Amino acid sequence: MTKLSVNINKVATLRNARGGNMPDLLQVAKDCEAFGADGITVHPRPDERHIRRNDVTALRAVLSTEFNIEGYPSKEFIDLVLRVKPHQVTLVPDKPGQLTSNHGWDTVTEQEFLRDILNDIRAAGIRSSIFIDADERMAEFAAKAGTDRVELYTGPYAEHYAKNPEEAIAPYIETAKRVRRLGIGLNAGHDLNLNNLNYFITNIPWVDEVSIGHALICDALYLGLKETIAAYKECLKK
Ligand code: PXP
Repeated sequence: MTKLSVNINKVATLRNARGGNMPDLLQVAKDCEAFGADGITVHPRPDERHIRRNDVTALRAVLSTEFNIEGYPSKEFIDLVLRVKPHQVTLVPDKPGQLTSNHGWDTVTEQEFLRDILNDIRAAGIRSSIFIDADERMAEFAAKAGTDRVELYTGPYAEHYAKNPEEAIAPYIETAKRVRRLGIGLNAGHDLNLNNLNYFITNIPWVDEVSIGHALICDALYLGLKETIAAYKECLKK
């Protein structure tokens, strides 16, 4: 069964809008777990506009499922994850201030840079994942750099899904097959939602984990968090 990691960045955005502690990020994370989430994902950005560094530390102490921290591997980010030791670190190539992740790593040109960082993550006993586009060569060089998993950037899939699902999924199936042959794990994320998730998973059933934030939190406004998480888990059935 593919795992669902709930990205709670948007919950922190809502909290930060008023300066207090409503909604309570830690309680929401624990409730996501109680409602069936297999993990929690956060993306602490340099400007702390949603998840703050002290949220990361506090979450580590209360979570009972898998904790995934994603971010650009600046020195500050690496120091944080080596101290907090989550179950998984996902490296994204975002510049500081970027609105959201919108492309994967160039694992060919960034090979040496990524290899050194992945060594540090492995030495700390943390599983690593590298965010890549649906591109077999990028998967091959991600594996060469020593990553445990790749996360496929599903933004373009989500964008094209409505027009032509078969065409939208095609490069993802090819890349996912290559990832499987390379013997590394496979995650996916960005813009996945209740409409496009099941098609993705039934075509690529060997996805280990999806991380979903924006659409899931939007759906929760109408359905409530408990029903929303149950609905996403239903979409993960193959
Ligand atoms: N994966 C990565 C690397 C991301 O940066 C994000 C957004 O924070 C997600 C997955 C989740 O994307 P969405 O919020 O669109 O579900």
